[in-house]
Amino acid sequence: MVDIGTAQADIGVIGGSGFYSFLKDVTEVTVRTPYGPPSDALFLGELAGRRVAFLPRHGRGHHLPPHRVNYRANLWALRSVGVRQVLGPCAVGGLRQEYGPGTLLVPDQLVDRTKTRVQTFFDGEPLPDGVVPNVVHTTFADPYCPVGREAVVTAARGRGWEPVDGGTMVVIEGPRFSTRAESRWHAAQGWSVVGMTGHPEAVLARELGLCYTSAALVTDLDAGAGTGEGVSHQEVLRVFGENVGRLREVLLDVVGKLPAAHERDCLCARVHDGWELGIELP
Ligand code: ADE
Repeated sequence: MVDIGTAQADIGVIGGSGFYSFLKDVTEVTVRTPYGPPSDALFLGELAGRRVAFLPRHGRGHHLPPHRVNYRANLWALRSVGVRQVLGPCAVGGLRQEYGPGTLLVPDQLVDRTKTRVQTFFDGEPLPDGVVPNVVHTTFADPYCPVGREAVVTAARGRGWEPVDGGTMVVIEGPRFSTRAESRWHAAQGWSVVGMTGHPEAVLARELGLCYTSAALVTDLDAGAGTGEGVSHQEVLRVFGENVGRLREVLLDVVGKLPAAHERDCLCARVHDGWELGIELP
C-alpha cells in the first residue's frame, strides 16, 4: 500500500475498467475514508503529462450495482489524493430517436429520480471522529463544470465525433431499466438521456469543491424511444465496448486541457467561500 500523503493526482476519472489500461506507471492506492471504503483502490498514473487517479465506479470486476456504489467514499478518496477535476464517463439510454447508440452527449442538467442514495456530506450525522458537519445548502443550479464541459465538447469535435452539447440526464435508481411508461414520461418532460450513476456523483463533487464533468455515451434507445422488447444489459455492454476506445481518446485529450487546481476560476472551486463547513475537507 502506498502512503496517500505521497500519492498525488489532480484529475480523477470515475469509469469502467476500459479506462485505466492506458495510464503510465500505475500505482494502486488504497484510501480509507470516514464514509467507508470506496468502490476500489485508486489507480494513479500519468496521462497527457498530468497526474490522473482512476477509480472503477462499480469496482474491479463490476460487482457493485449503481445503488450500492459508495459515492461519498469515492469522491472523498479522490479529493484525498489531491484531485480537483473529476471526469465521469457513463453509459446512458437515449430518450429521443435522434440520440441513438453511439451518440456522445455532454449534459448540462440533471434530474434526480433516485430513491435510496445518500446525497450529501452535510447530513448532521457525526463522523467516526465525533465531528458533526454543519448544515450546508450547496448551489447546484448548473450541476456540471462549464470549463470541463467545454473541454469535452472541443475534444470530441477534434476527434471527429460531433457531440450533443447540453441536455438533461435523468438518473433513475435502477438496477432495472425503466418501464415504457416511465420512459415516455421522461421523454415528455423534455429530458434527453437516462442513466443510473450520474446522481449523487455530481452533487457530492460540488460539495467537495471539485469540478465535475459528465460524458454520457448512449448505448441504447430507452424503452419509450425504441421499439422491441426493451433495453437489455447485453446490448448496453456491447455498445459500450464498441465505443469505449474513442471515448478514451476524447478523455485523453480532455485531461491535457483541464486547468490545474490553482488555475480554476469556475463556481465549483468557490462554492463554499465564506461558509463554515464544520468538517475539514481532505
Ligand atoms: N444505462 C445505459 N442505458 C440505460 C438505460 N436505458 N436506462 C438507464 N441506464 C442506462
